Amino acid sequence: MYNIAVVGATGLVGQTMLRLLEEKQIPIANLTLFSSARSAGSQVSFNGENHVVEELTTEKTAGPFDYVLMSAGGETSLTFSPLFEKHGAVVIDNSSAWRMDPEISLVVPEVNPPSSNRKIIANPNCSTIQSVGPLKILLDAFGIERIAYTTYQSVSGSGWKGIEDLKRGERGEDPVNYPHPIYNNVLPQIDVFQEDGYTKEEVKMIEETRKILNLPTLPVTATCVRVPVTSAHAVAINVTLSEETSVKAIQSLFEASPYVTLEDEPEKGIYPMPLQAGGKEGIFVGRIRKDDSLPNTYHVWTVSDNILKGAALNAVQILQQLIS
Ligand SMILES: NC(=O)c1ccc[n+]([C@@H]2O[C@H](COP(=O)([O-])OP(=O)(O)OC[C@H]3O[C@@H](n4cnc5c(N)ncnc54)[C@H](OP(=O)(O)O)[C@@H]3O)[C@@H](O)[C@H]2O)c1
Repeated sequence: MYNIAVVGATGLVGQTMLRLLEEKQIPIANLTLFSSARSAGSQVSFNGENHVVEELTTEKTAGPFDYVLMSAGGETSLTFSPLFEKHGAVVIDNSSAWRMDPEISLVVPEVNPPSSNRKIIANPNCSTIQSVGPLKILLDAFGIERIAYTTYQSVSGSGWKGIEDLKRGERGEDPVNYPHPIYNNVLPQIDVFQEDGYTKEEVKMIEETRKILNLPTLPVTATCVRVPVTSAHAVAINVTLSEETSVKAIQSLFEASPYVTLEDEPEKGIYPMPLQAGGKEGIFVGRIRKDDSLPNTYHVWTVSDNILKGAALNAVQILQQLIS
């Protein structure tokens, strides 16, 4: 039985992590729920009992906690994760704060188990997680020379405030979270722009892919786009392999893997879509085609629930891996 804290327990990811802790019957002795001052005092039901959410403060990091599931943004994590760690807890963090720290493991359990002595473990970016799942299968079988991503990311990727902006747009109101209306629109901007014209989200996908696949010099590029979908991200992956293969061979590998679900019968209209993948735990792949513009290059379309495998589920799977 473990003492577990969830930081960001009132957030979209935090709420989903709590549901998964229940569903997966994680053995919990004491559960402590933290938020900012804004939601402190609110009540959250867990395993049939009401828990009062507390404001996270420095003193409260002493716990004692065995595991802390952090889902409260980068700044909160930078301040509090090292304090939890100092007091002996293992922190699994959903923010981008620690992902590229060379001392910190960036983990998708089926791809790369934790490999560092630090007790902070980073959960990757949502679009990265659903991409490296199928890519790891291709890497092991054929090797990878290059990756180009285009993403179609749902508004829940921005937490409650993204969903609220979509609803505002439906009502004809101006956005609060996004720089332009997201309703009836597509925004080729996620996070802020850098000097080279890439957004931070695009840089995250590029750098995190290299780190997780342990290919530090791999050519990777990305265009990240916000679409007016509530739940589940789609990523069009264009991947150049090191060896010749075939669409059939790639489909067979995906079919045989427990980590992805192949939905690739385009003639019957069967391919992964957010409406079908939302609320499900898997990574769905389809539309596998040869790209004749480059040697050994293929298109893979992947869809997954960004709050589940893209965030809360991956974090809980890391916890399950550590416990087991
Ligand atoms: N949504 C996704 O698809 C996704 C995917 C991967 C990673 N993430 C990451 O997961 C984290 C949470 O995202 P979300 O989508 O759940 O956002 P959200 O719905 O906006 O929730 C944010 C949570 O953080 C809490 N919080 C904010 N400041 C805090 C502080 N100083 N101390 C303690 N708690 C604080 C909030 O508490 P209050 O209720 O008091 O405001 C709330 O519980 C972010 O770092 C995000 O980048 C999200």
